[in-house]
Amino acid sequence: MPVTINVESVHELRRLDLIARRHHRVAPIALRINRATGTLTGSHRMTGTPTPFGIDESQLSQAIALTTQSPGVRLTGLHLHSVSNNLDAAAHVAFVADSLAYAALIADEHRLTFDTVNVGGGIGVDPTGAAAFDLDEFSRLLPEADMSGPRVVYELGRYLTAEIGWYAAEVIDIKHTHDRTFAVLRGGTHHFRLPAAWGYSHPATVIEREDWPYPWPRPELVNATVDVTGELCTPRDVLARGLHVDRLRIGDILVFDRCGAYGWTISHHDFLNHPHPTFIVL
Ligand SMILES: Cc1ncc(COP(=O)(O)O)c(C=O)c1O
Repeated sequence: MPVTINVESVHELRRLDLIARRHHRVAPIALRINRATGTLTGSHRMTGTPTPFGIDESQLSQAIALTTQSPGVRLTGLHLHSVSNNLDAAAHVAFVADSLAYAALIADEHRLTFDTVNVGGGIGVDPTGAAAFDLDEFSRLLPEADMSGPRVVYELGRYLTAEIGWYAAEVIDIKHTHDRTFAVLRGGTHHFRLPAAWGYSHPATVIEREDWPYPWPRPELVNATVDVTGELCTPRDVLARGLHVDRLRIGDILVFDRCGAYGWTISHHDFLNHPHPTFIVL
């Protein structure tokens, strides 16, 4: 499998050239472009808008010219990752087609042959389960591969991993303040920050546990609506608001599914130095 290094800026290009030459190597590279247009909508846009990602399209010719004067690199393609969490399959097909047409145009204009067009990731997963990316529609609409053209590289993150992670945390308290009901978890956004970062309520399932070691009645909610918070000293430590529970008791476990992407890895693990969760790999 050939390795391609994606280059995000002219400075990165110069550094890579220098490093490669020092090691008497030639690095195959793809230039990551922040295109003016031809990008996708989705919750996190990275191109087609001002961001620190990629080389602005207006500077592409200059960057390509620099590759021709840089013996440590060989330009093999473009990298066009543009968005995260797109749920529209038809739009994703249009994006891939447009990316290939754009790469062909650039190759033509600069008399290059590209062997790679990286269309990035960005296929989405709705953590609430209300919507889903239609993979069948995506594969049905995708034009037949042109075997004589460049290799199309996808680098999916969320779509591959979101569904393979669960987060489970014990309810350590149930409280009522200012007319709202809270379930406090042994855990929180230091383990699973995605709902707080994105401002949505992550669904959860109650796993009942019968253990109750205390000599007073076990607090419980029946047919109730509850806000699920963590144990941190911030009101932003919220995983779900308005979660309906048939029954929830202190000592029960709440299980959050679809936590395999941008869950633990985007969380501030050591805020307040609470223990990290146990990881169980099945
Ligand atoms: C360059 C690049 N490629 C791929 C991905 C994966 O994106 P996603 O998880 O949306 O598929 C990311 C995520 O930020 C990225 O920055």
